[in-house]
Amino acid sequence: MGISVPSLASLDGRVAVITGGARGQGRSHAVALSVAGADIVLWDLPGPMSTLTYPLATRDDLEATSKLVSEQGRRCLALSVDVRDADQVDAAVCQTVEEFGRLDIAVANAGVVTTGPLVDVSDEAWEELVDTNLTGVFHTLRAVVPPMREQRWGRIVVTSSMGGRMGIPGQSAYNATKWGVIGMAKSLALELAKEGITVNVVCPTTAQTPMVQPVPGEDVPNELIRRYMRSNPIPQPWIQPEDVTRAVLYLVEEPGVVTGEVMEIGLGASARMP
Ligand SMILES: NC(=O)c1ccc[n+]([C@@H]2O[C@H](COP(=O)([O-])OP(=O)(O)OC[C@H]3O[C@@H](n4cnc5c(N)ncnc54)[C@H](O)[C@@H]3O)[C@@H](O)[C@H]2O)c1
Repeated sequence: MGISVPSLASLDGRVAVITGGARGQGRSHAVALSVAGADIVLWDLPGPMSTLTYPLATRDDLEATSKLVSEQGRRCLALSVDVRDADQVDAAVCQTVEEFGRLDIAVANAGVVTTGPLVDVSDEAWEELVDTNLTGVFHTLRAVVPPMREQRWGRIVVTSSMGGRMGIPGQSAYNATKWGVIGMAKSLALELAKEGITVNVVCPTTAQTPMVQPVPGEDVPNELIRRYMRSNPIPQPWIQPEDVTRAVLYLVEEPGVVTGEVMEIGLGASARMP
């Protein structure tokens, strides 16, 4: 009896949008998807945020990612898009479809973090977290679904966090946004399940990116995050962006039988949950 042997699907001819694609996990996803054959659209370079303790991506970061994608022989469109702004998001989707003729994959990865006990979270810090991590994902998903619907094919991956799976002291506000996107993604998955579009979530644990280690090689400046890093059942402090990318690749390449799932890249943290 013959067997069908699964192999990685090619993404040749696919077009992938990656929000927060200038650096960190977004850059890793962009390069890997281009190696798999996709053309890439990067959204990044948001307007200023006053409550972050680390810098956002720069134009040099965005250009460097764009160059890495081009070196794979794929097209790359690098756009200044702040996902907090629905008009910018809608315009970026229009520009993508105009230039590439389609939009197949969206990785809603853009996010920011601030930490601190809930009673010390300022209104401004709350708004900056919610506007990017929750409303920004809403703007992105709302805008990418119509072109996917027309194609009757789409793959959406939302980046949550292990902070979206558990309580962590000092992360009440951030975790609220990361739990929120899981509810959004699961519900949207059900809305789209009959239309060839899947919606899944990845939950990284602490990852070695500029978000938590702004100066490469230096100690993580945030004591609350350092404390969480020491608690991992698998005894390593953090994961690498590529560890998350492998999950993203799986979710965009699989043939459309996985939706509404939450994939943890968590160094075993959820094994402790009931
Ligand atoms: N690094 C971690 O430990 C960790 C752990 C779990 C989840 N996450 C999540 O992973 C995702 C990627 O983070 P990262 O680790 O690569 O950090 P990062 O800071 O290196 O990358 C985030 C990118 O998003 C961009 N961005 C932020 N706000 C934006 C906005 N409003 N509009 C457009 N772009 C915006 C930034 O400029 C940056 O390039 C985020 O959603 C983050 O919350 C990170």
